[in-house]
Amino acid sequence: MTKLTFPDHFIWGIGTSAYQSEGAWQEDGRGESIWDRYCHIPGNTFNGESGDISSDFYHRYKEDIALLKKMGIRHFRTSIAWTRIIPDGRGEINPKGIQFYHDVIDELLRQGIEPMITLYMWDLPQKLQDIGGWANREVTDYYERYARLLFREYGNKVKTWVTFDEPFCGAFIGNYLGTYAPGLRDFNTALLVSYHMLLAHGKAVRACHEMLPDAKIGIALNISDCKPATCKPADAEAAHRADGYRNRWFLDPLYKGSFPQDMLDWYEAQGVILPAISREDLKIISTRQDFLGLNYYSPHFFVDDAKNWPIQCTSVKTGKPLNDINWEIVPEALYNILARIRADYGDVEIQITENGSCQTDILSHRREILDYCRIDYMHRHLVELERAIRAGINVTAYYAFCFMDNLEWALGYSKRFGLVYVDFETQERIVKASGRWYSQVVKQNGLETAEQ
Ligand code: BGC
Repeated sequence: MTKLTFPDHFIWGIGTSAYQSEGAWQEDGRGESIWDRYCHIPGNTFNGESGDISSDFYHRYKEDIALLKKMGIRHFRTSIAWTRIIPDGRGEINPKGIQFYHDVIDELLRQGIEPMITLYMWDLPQKLQDIGGWANREVTDYYERYARLLFREYGNKVKTWVTFDEPFCGAFIGNYLGTYAPGLRDFNTALLVSYHMLLAHGKAVRACHEMLPDAKIGIALNISDCKPATCKPADAEAAHRADGYRNRWFLDPLYKGSFPQDMLDWYEAQGVILPAISREDLKIISTRQDFLGLNYYSPHFFVDDAKNWPIQCTSVKTGKPLNDINWEIVPEALYNILARIRADYGDVEIQITENGSCQTDILSHRREILDYCRIDYMHRHLVELERAIRAGINVTAYYAFCFMDNLEWALGYSKRFGLVYVDFETQERIVKASGRWYSQVVKQNGLETAEQ
């Protein structure tokens, strides 16, 4: 066995998000979000499930935070629901919503747990969707107002902020593939949405640096290792396009101040309507952020596919082991992504803002969850992470995803990622074997492995 020790002061955390965990969707003046609307439309989600109740963090946050403490977790990432703070997104401020997050943050701090707060984790106020959502540039100003309000309210308590979680998903899965809220199917809209999300991110980074010079702020991107599924040259080109679509479209403007030229040319040739990209916007978008949040779960393998407009590629399985959400398990892809970020974008600070696995958790007759596959998944990814750190890549944090089972978006409660099991009938919580294992990792600042 080899002992892998992480650097001193390495941050070990665990995460969730507002809509996935809070429930209480209509309480204390909360407005409707696009995810409420999406989940309430029959046929959109597994079994019609929604975040109406979920794991009820809204009412149970004290016990849940006590559990975090018991597990030895010192860093907790969650998001704020815009609709609790400003129910319609741009009008009146809701004091009860403001108070709720003060209570949560205060409770975390009381228990010695540092909050990492995500400003936007997919739940746009529905009233803003009604005026076009992120496709309407004005929404970037409403977002900035909301961000400034949060910095003013919580800035003396919260030291680490995330502007957006996975804008790729919000933009493209929500507005092009239509399987996430708001459920639109229009590539031009999705591209414009992605542009405005990046712009809004830049506005929040600027505001944060101006208002909270000691705080850290970054975006959380779900960068994927995009590889060709075969050795055919056409598949290699397809994988490069997929990389442009999913990764470089976000990383280039953030770090290079420009959108990838090959993608601009490709989109134009495909008849896609490009956003009106301006120099001034690019300057805002590329405002230096303090860290890059990386959400990593699985890589993607592509084949060329002319039928799939406009990227003309399709992601396929390559026979690697799958977890229970059908994602291929390839731990070394995490290393590849980290190495690639450094090679292409320089020595930026990276925080792993999400990593975890979906497994079918079976409650045993002894009321235990022996989720060894999840432990093995995390173990192997931590081995790769340690290898990256040893290679000099500047990774300072790892947040497991997620704290307790919660709404897996359109897949409802059918998919579990938690390190703590939730019985959604009774709201009972049971720490899984993976939760106990992770507590040990945190305590030892590392792990023992048979791998070299
Ligand atoms: C999101 C999480 C989600 C997880 C698993 C990410 O896409 O940030 O909210 O639950 O991955 O799908």
